[in-house]
Amino acid sequence: MQIIKMKALVILIGVVLLSGCGDSEPKIEGRWYSQSQVDAGQRLFADNCAECHGLAAQGTRDWNKPEADGKYPPPPLNGKAHAWHHPLKGLKRSINQGGIAIGGSMPGFSDKLADAEVDAVVSYFQSKWPDPIYQAWIDRGGLN
Ligand code: HEC
Repeated sequence: MQIIKMKALVILIGVVLLSGCGDSEPKIEGRWYSQSQVDAGQRLFADNCAECHGLAAQGTRDWNKPEADGKYPPPPLNGKAHAWHHPLKGLKRSINQGGIAIGGSMPGFSDKLADAEVDAVVSYFQSKWPDPIYQAWIDRGGLN
């Protein structure tokens, strides 16, 4: 029993080492990102974004109705709102710059998150997008 467990562990470590090598890690089928980007993004999202957008990126219920001050509440990023209308570059710009400068209330993260971390948070909320939404995003030039 013990030996079998050891063997399993050795195989597991081998797999982790093989798959953990940066760019050579396989992408999730049909998506631009890998599982380890999603995992890292989940932690970053919980720490930086969830207080407004919700842990599962579900946003707020009345996200499309302006509040008394005219500002909009945090939208869902899970594919239910408009995030998929924006290409990857635009999503990253929204995260880096935030919305305050254009009359919104989201802070910018360019001083807080490295470029690879912004990629990771996007991969996390995009992992919530159903395939047809992701495909519609690709079709309208999401990766261009
Ligand atoms: C203080 C609350 C707050 C935090 C924290 C926050 N956001 Fe936002 N976010 C908003 C609001 C509100 C909007 C709507 C635009 C605005 O008011 O700036 C928004 C808009 C967005 C948009 C544009 C969505 C669209 O459909 O166009 C993206 C993408 C986004 N946020 C991602 C993130 C990510 C990723 C993080 C964490 C790194 C984050 N936000 C942190 C409140 C927040």
